[in-house]
Amino acid sequence: MKNHKLLNMIKEAQSKNRYVSEEAIAQMAETLGLPMAHVYGVTTFYSFLSTKPPGRHVIRICKSVPCCLKDGEMMAEAIEDILGIAPGETSADGRFTLELTNCIGACDQAPAMLVDDTLYGDLTPEKIENILQSFD
Ligand code: FES
Repeated sequence: MKNHKLLNMIKEAQSKNRYVSEEAIAQMAETLGLPMAHVYGVTTFYSFLSTKPPGRHVIRICKSVPCCLKDGEMMAEAIEDILGIAPGETSADGRFTLELTNCIGACDQAPAMLVDDTLYGDLTPEKIENILQSFD
């Protein structure tokens, strides 16, 4: 029951600030009488939750097997080269945060990624470059 309540609180904190701050983690721990490490552990378990402020846009590139079989790793490397960042990092200009994620339900369009809430499939390095250029 406490974990269900905790997850709802974490999701609310994430949707309010686009990430879950250390202060929010401490407050949730105190409210629910849970160790901070537990709240932090739950927050970092889910790839759609973050404990760091994200860039203006969040890229989630799929790392699951069907995408990997269609050069998904190469697409992740293409993004890393274009932006000069590794997964988990935010570009110096604050435009993009890059995350690796499990299947995003677009295996028929593998390799696929989300930028914010928009799905892009059948990726190639050239297509990725064009997509990223369309974001401010
Ligand atoms: S495995 Fe990549 S979208 Fe499903």
